[in-house]
Amino acid sequence: MATYDLVVIGTGPGGYVCAVRAAQLGMKVAVVEKNATLGGTCLNVGCMPSKALLHASEMFEEAGHSFAKMGVSVSSPKLDLPAMMNFKQHGIDGNVKGVEFLMKKNKIDVLKGTGKILGTGKVEVSADGKSQVIETKNIVIATGSDIARLKGIEIDEKRIVSSTGALSLDKVPGKLLIVGAGVIGLELGSVWHRLGADVVVVEFLDRILPGMDGEIAKQFQRILEKQGFAFKLGAKVTAVDTSGKTLKATIEPAAGGAAETLEADVVLVCIGRVPYTDGLGLKEAGVALDPRGRVQIDPHFATSLKGVYAIGDVVAGPMLAHKAEDEGVAVAEIIAGQAGHVNYDVIPGVVYTTPEVSSVGKTEEELKQAGIGYTVGKFPFTANGRSKVNQTTDGFVKVLADAKTDRVLGVHIIGREAGEMIHEACVLMEFGGSAEDLARTCHAHPTRSEAVKEAALAVGKRAIHM
Ligand code: FAD
Ligand code: NAI
Repeated sequence: MATYDLVVIGTGPGGYVCAVRAAQLGMKVAVVEKNATLGGTCLNVGCMPSKALLHASEMFEEAGHSFAKMGVSVSSPKLDLPAMMNFKQHGIDGNVKGVEFLMKKNKIDVLKGTGKILGTGKVEVSADGKSQVIETKNIVIATGSDIARLKGIEIDEKRIVSSTGALSLDKVPGKLLIVGAGVIGLELGSVWHRLGADVVVVEFLDRILPGMDGEIAKQFQRILEKQGFAFKLGAKVTAVDTSGKTLKATIEPAAGGAAETLEADVVLVCIGRVPYTDGLGLKEAGVALDPRGRVQIDPHFATSLKGVYAIGDVVAGPMLAHKAEDEGVAVAEIIAGQAGHVNYDVIPGVVYTTPEVSSVGKTEEELKQAGIGYTVGKFPFTANGRSKVNQTTDGFVKVLADAKTDRVLGVHIIGREAGEMIHEACVLMEFGGSAEDLARTCHAHPTRSEAVKEAALAVGKRAIHM
C-alpha cells in the first residue's frame, strides 16, 4: 500500500501549487524540497526578489526625477542599499512563510532533502547523509531550472554574476556589463541603472527581447536608450579577464570580425535557463529526456515512466511561474481523474521594467510566418487622458485580430502598468472573443485600460481619441 497518493519533488510555483490542488481534491500529499526554504527559484532568487528591487529602485528614481515636476519637493534621495536589500528579504520571507502556511493548512507533509526517483511509486529522500524511501501512487517532478552558463566564463557570484548574485550585490557597480538582452538582463539592468550604474547590454541577436513582438521591442529599446542603457547588438562576450581590479570583457561581433574590450566592475550573465534534473536519478529510473535535456511528457504531463509526471521549467514551454502553476493545477486534476488542461495559446508574458512590456498570443512576426491574414489596431498612450495627466505617455497598445473572423489573436502592450492591463486580453482570448467584443466593452474613465479598448476600436479604424 502506497503511503501517499502523490509526492511532488520541488516546491517552486509548479510544485507547491500542484500539492495544494491535489490536497483540495482529497489526496494525501507530500512535497520534497532540497533547499532550506520552500518556494523554489521564483520566491527565493527569481520573481519575488527581482520585483521587490524593481519596485524599490523605481521609487528611488521617481523621488529623484519625477517628484519635483508634480510639485513635490524632496531633498535629493540617498541610497541605503543594505536597507533596500532588507526590504527585498522581508518580501521573500513573507512569501516563503505563506507557502509554509499553505502546506500546513492543506495537511501536506514537507520532506526536507533531495528527492531521487527509484522507480514507479518510490522516491528516496536524502538529507545530511541519511535517506528514507517514500512510497506513493504518483510522483510529479517539479524541479525547475538553473542558470545557463557561458563556456570559459566562470560565475563567482561576486564580480561575474548570474541573476542570483545580481539580486544581492553589496554595492552599486560603476559599470555593469550584461550578457543577454532578455527578460533578466533588462529587469536587473533597470534596477542597477536606476541606482546609479552605467549599463551596457551585449546581445547575440540583432534585437532585444527575442520572442516579443518586434515593433514593441524596437520602441522598448529606444526608451531604454533614452533612459541611459547602451546596447551592443549582434555581439557576444567570449572571455572575461578577471586578473585586474576591473574586469576586461572581450566582445566579438556575432557574425565574426575584430574583437573589442570593454571594462566593467560587474558582469551579469543572463543568457537563458536550463532544465534542472541533477540527482533525480531519471536515467536509471527510465524517465526519458528530450534532446534539450527537458523531461519529456505527453499532453497529459505523463513521462515515459508509469505514475510519474512533470511540470514547470523542467518541461518544454515558456519558463514562467504562472505557466508552472497552471500545469501544477492541471496535472493534479488529471491524477484525480478530472480533465485538467492548460491553454498554451493564452499565456501572458510580462517584463516588469518602466515602462512595462506585456504580451499574450501571437506576435506579428508569428502571424506572418504562419501565413495568417490579420488586421492591426494600435493606440498610443500619448492619446490616453489618464496617461496625459500623469505625464506617463511612453508606449502603445497593439491588438492583432484575424482578418476574416475578427477573433483576437494577440495583444501587445508597452507602457506603465502593461502587466496589469494584459489580463483583459487574456480573458477575452480564453473565450475566443473578437476585437469588436473588446471594443464594445465599457471601460472605466479615466484609466490606462481605455487604450486597450481604443486599440480594439482601431482594428475597425474607428478609435475615438486618435
Ligand atoms: P522552481 O521555481 O525552479 O522550483 C524548483 C524547486 O525544486 C527548487 O526549490 C529546487 O530546490 C527544487 N529541487 C530541484 N531538484 C530537487 C530534488 N532532486 N529534490 C528536491 N528538491 C529539488 N517568472 C515569472 O513568471 N515572472 C517573473 O517575474 C519571473 N521573474 C524571474 C526572475 C528571475 C531572476 C529568475 C531567475 C526567474 C524568474 N521567473 C519569473 C521564472 C520563474 O522563477 C520560473 O519560471 C519558476 O520558478 C518555475 O517554477 P518551477 O516550479 O518549475 O521551478
Ligand atoms: P532569455 O531567454 O529571456 O534571454 C536571454 C538572451 O540572451 C536572449 O536575448 C539571447 O539571444 C541572448 N544570448 C544567448 N546567448 C548569448 C551570448 N552568448 N551572448 C550574448 N547574448 C546571448 O533569458 P534570461 O533573461 O536569462 O531569463 C531566463 C528565463 O527566466 C526566461 O526564460 C524568462 O522566462 C524567465 N524570467 C521571466 C521573467 C518575467 O517573466 N518577468 C523575469 C526574469 C526571468
